[in-house]
Amino acid sequence: MKIIEIEGAKELTGTIRVSGAKNATVALIPAAILTDEEATICNVPEITDTEALVDILKLLNVKVSRASESIVINPQEMINTEITEPYSKKLRASYYFMGALLGKYKKAVMYFPGGCSIGARPIDLHLKGFEALGATITSDKNKYIVEAEELHGANIYLDIASVGATINIMLAAVKAKGTTIIDNAAKEPEIVNVATFLNNMGAKITGAGTSSIKIEGVDKLHKCFHEVIPDRIEAGTYLIIGALCGKNLKIDNVITEHIDSLLSKLEEVGVKLEIGRDYITVLDHERKYKTTNIKTATYPGFPTDLQQPFTVLLTQANGKSKITETIWENRFMHVPYLKLLGADIEVKNQTATIIGPTELKGAEVVATDLRAGAAMVAAGLIASGKTTITNVEHILRGYEQIIEKLSDVGAKITLKEI
Ligand code: EPZ
Repeated sequence: MKIIEIEGAKELTGTIRVSGAKNATVALIPAAILTDEEATICNVPEITDTEALVDILKLLNVKVSRASESIVINPQEMINTEITEPYSKKLRASYYFMGALLGKYKKAVMYFPGGCSIGARPIDLHLKGFEALGATITSDKNKYIVEAEELHGANIYLDIASVGATINIMLAAVKAKGTTIIDNAAKEPEIVNVATFLNNMGAKITGAGTSSIKIEGVDKLHKCFHEVIPDRIEAGTYLIIGALCGKNLKIDNVITEHIDSLLSKLEEVGVKLEIGRDYITVLDHERKYKTTNIKTATYPGFPTDLQQPFTVLLTQANGKSKITETIWENRFMHVPYLKLLGADIEVKNQTATIIGPTELKGAEVVATDLRAGAAMVAAGLIASGKTTITNVEHILRGYEQIIEKLSDVGAKITLKEI
């Protein structure tokens, strides 16, 4: 079992470089099988979610090679085989193989995906989209067979602006006959990154980043070179850590407009920032923070994925703050552990009320999911004494070299195998 130990209450100074975006990478890797030629993707983070997808590529007999930050995917000798449960359940994003295999072979056989237990996480919108494109779906317990004689363009309205469904339908539709329109599409930057990749391969997608995406089907996709965008959630996590204990902590390789909602909340509570072209520095200042209320929303709203780390910051604000979670029904699992560290938080319905400022003291806590884990790290960094985090596999799924990055700026943080 792996654990993280943190000796808290140290100031962090220096530069943290943000890696490639997990939630773009996990869609780009499955998308790469849509061509029969080689795709090179650079700025790919070394996280366990990437490894899990590479394992699925290997199961499908796809050649994969990795050189420093890039990954070369060659599906020339690919075989469309069933993606069994041990592979699919390792992560949520395994479901992108459903759209990609359907788009390429008109058939996908795979099991229900895994991922963080932050809510029910149904895939009905993905399946409805595939059906609209002409696929039939048979499911037996957790196993899904999605197949079509022919895929044709369709007008698809998503009841919820789902990131996963938007990308998965794009993957299935790029080689369908005719034009597909996805309305009420999600607008997250990761979707734009995936659409750009597909267009680099010869797809015809317009409107990605807006709520209406148009996909004109093409017969063939070709080789390409692509770069993953910087991870806005990783950047946001380190900015929040900077607000908690940074002293001129520079977060480098950031597309600042991707985190506008976070930046305005940080400024509202009183965090002093220098915002550069591709970096943000948390300046050295007295950490006397004001309260705020946050409601998570789809992009460009405040991201649910930063709600948990931001809770930690609000334990240090003077007075009562509220965070309302609107995307996932089970995303307050970090709260009992923050309370164990000394925070004053109550959760009612989907709203957490946080009263601060409270002193946090080290304790044994659990990373119940990826971003809850990030919240535990942030809390451990300001808590006095030692904080031990278990279930850290969740954290390593999404934060590349988190131990090294934080140690380099002065944190006393270690990953141990026990
Ligand atoms: C993506 O999940 C991210 N994961 C999540 O990040 C992120 O929290 C989420 O988008 C929202 O921004 C990846 O990109 C791999 P959704 P996804 O489909 O695509 C409901 C992290 O920590 N819904 O946009 O699974 C769903 O239940 C992770 O990095 C349906 O009802 O999210 C949720 O309430 C966690 N039916 C809402 O829509 C469906 O078929 C939004 O989900 C699909 C979704």
